[in-house]
Amino acid sequence: MINSNDLKLTVIGTDISRQGSDALVLGLFKQENGVAIAASPFSAEMTRAVEASLASINATGKADELLLLPPVAETKAKVMAFTGLGVADDASLDDELLRRAAGSAARQLSNVSTAVFSLPAETTARVSAVAEGIALGAYRYENYRAASKSSKPTLSEAQIATERSADKDLVEVLKHAAAIGRAVRGTRDLINAPANELYPESFASAVKEYAKSLPLKVTVYDEKKLAKDGFGGLLGVGGGSNRPPRLVKVEYAPAKAAKHLALVGKGITFDTGGISIKPASGMHAMKSDMSGAAAVFQSICAVAELGLDVKVTAWLCLAENMPGGKATRPGDVITMYGGKTVEVLNTDAEGRLVMGDGLVAASEEHPDVVIDIATLTGAQMLALGLRTAGVMGTESVRDALIEASNTVGELAWPMPIPEQLRPSLDSEVADLANIGERMGGMMTAAAFLQEFVGEVDGQQIPWAHIDFAGPAFNEGSAWGYTPKNGTGSQVRTLVQYAATLAG
Ligand code: BES
Ligand code: ZN
Ligand code: ZN
Repeated sequence: MINSNDLKLTVIGTDISRQGSDALVLGLFKQENGVAIAASPFSAEMTRAVEASLASINATGKADELLLLPPVAETKAKVMAFTGLGVADDASLDDELLRRAAGSAARQLSNVSTAVFSLPAETTARVSAVAEGIALGAYRYENYRAASKSSKPTLSEAQIATERSADKDLVEVLKHAAAIGRAVRGTRDLINAPANELYPESFASAVKEYAKSLPLKVTVYDEKKLAKDGFGGLLGVGGGSNRPPRLVKVEYAPAKAAKHLALVGKGITFDTGGISIKPASGMHAMKSDMSGAAAVFQSICAVAELGLDVKVTAWLCLAENMPGGKATRPGDVITMYGGKTVEVLNTDAEGRLVMGDGLVAASEEHPDVVIDIATLTGAQMLALGLRTAGVMGTESVRDALIEASNTVGELAWPMPIPEQLRPSLDSEVADLANIGERMGGMMTAAAFLQEFVGEVDGQQIPWAHIDFAGPAFNEGSAWGYTPKNGTGSQVRTLVQYAATLAG
């Protein structure tokens, strides 16, 4: 299930004239009339000649442009690939633009297994950006294509040219980029897996299998255990499916951890809507409704691989939302884990039900912080669009997450949980209803989840909720290092946040 090919990242010096490879990747700045090669490894004369060739094929240097030219005498690569940097000069180039340009090249190169990336990478931060871009961009999902039909080899070895190649700290930088890349690609594999293969039980098995190579403890709660302990949210949502729900707890507990972070992920392996069934068109994309669970699992894997000094517990709330004979009906009342009752007025608002159970379970351990992440509402996309995640909750945690997302170059935005939304969730018959005010529906859903965040000494545990319904799954075109379909969004933000807790 999680098996995207691995990638070898190394650094080399900037004199690359004798370096053989399938491709030499160079960056282009946008100019008034044509383009300029960024940090050109060629002689001045050769640089001018290549820039003239590029101008003659109308190169623009805009982001996601990738142009190929046959090699010139000053390189031993089989082909030269030019990736647009999207800006006019080095002063306007930030780390994220560089990450995207490197990633866009890695993503678009076909029939290339080895490449030298000669991009502006004279600082540690820039080497890191190039390495991460490559590790994120070099991805293809071909698990289900006949070997004979599969496309050409994917990039398996990338050498990054930098004047800092002798620096010892780059070893850590490359290790970090490789671990992050592996986690994001692993998340995409899980999201892209079809729901006939990835269902709660098989997801739990895949987690167990993958975790074996890391210092992680995995506990799987099956339907019997869930029933015994009263996980009414998971059981209510999973009831309509022949494939029973699972709650998976993954623990990373290093000896020196000062803080404990709990992560809770929505893992609806397929969301038909249940009895409140969704329209047919576009429903196939609901195989991605487990992106939160995939993200928290791969984040804890990266944290463990990097050996961060922070205790992390990840809770994967896995269920399939189907309209079978034992499905929850609109109007049914369920008792959630911890005892709160919920009147289910719409079975398509199922994410908050499985997440409520997960939040209560996570809170029982009194972690320092709880973060939950879910493809929770269509309203998220109406509010923030397809690429920007909404972050709500305790101000300090919310804002620290936004800062983490800015650091790694992911798009996220803080949103409030206005007080007046809470009464819209009142039920005539139960403690809560699972739907409320439609306007600002992303925030209404957050107000629902908040009810399940535990308290310690009368104070709510610091908590944040990430709704990434749009960013998790890209039904549009690929861009930068982001492929079509499963994106692996928010994994880098979660790992970065964990790193700040580790100090
Ligand atoms: N999984 C969906 C949210 C979603 C929609 C994610 C589109 C990604 C793309 C969620 O379970 C859902 O159906 N939410 C409902 C809630 C409503 C009934 C209150 C929604 O947003 O329409
Ligand atoms: Zn739904
Ligand atoms: Zn859903």
